[in-house]
Amino acid sequence: MTRFRCNGMDVQTGAAPMSRLLDVLREDLRYTGPKEGCGEGECGACTVRIDGEPVMSCLVPVCQVEGAEVQTVEGLAQPVVHAVQSAFLQHGAAQCGICTPGFLMAAAALLDENPHPTREEARVALAGNLCRCTGYQKIVDAVVRAIAKEA
Ligand code: FES
Ligand code: FES
Repeated sequence: MTRFRCNGMDVQTGAAPMSRLLDVLREDLRYTGPKEGCGEGECGACTVRIDGEPVMSCLVPVCQVEGAEVQTVEGLAQPVVHAVQSAFLQHGAAQCGICTPGFLMAAAALLDENPHPTREEARVALAGNLCRCTGYQKIVDAVVRAIAKEA
């Protein structure tokens, strides 16, 4: 049994210790925000935060989060929608949306650590996340504007 917190709730799973965190989140706990793109740590679609750090959940065995605080994009919207989520909406930073939860989690982690990133800093922080649709410009616009809005 692995016990941890997810989006502020105490949770537990009887999944095998080496089960992927991504699968436990999606299939056991029904948090379907994290997406499976590549399943190999290359695309960032599965990004969640573990104790605040953005991590690709397809690479994490669930036993590794014992006692940790995990946040998915569902938790990012609690208790109110995060500024970067609103900014994505305003700036049209999502098209098909498969990459969006991962980008939001990586962006939220960046903004917590660096509330005033440059565009270049935003690009570096989001470098592990791939998007086939947007060309990235609007995503970076949204991250920078989210800061401007909160300032
Ligand atoms: S599904 Fe995890 S990095 Fe692509
Ligand atoms: S919006 Fe389609 S992959 Fe990013």
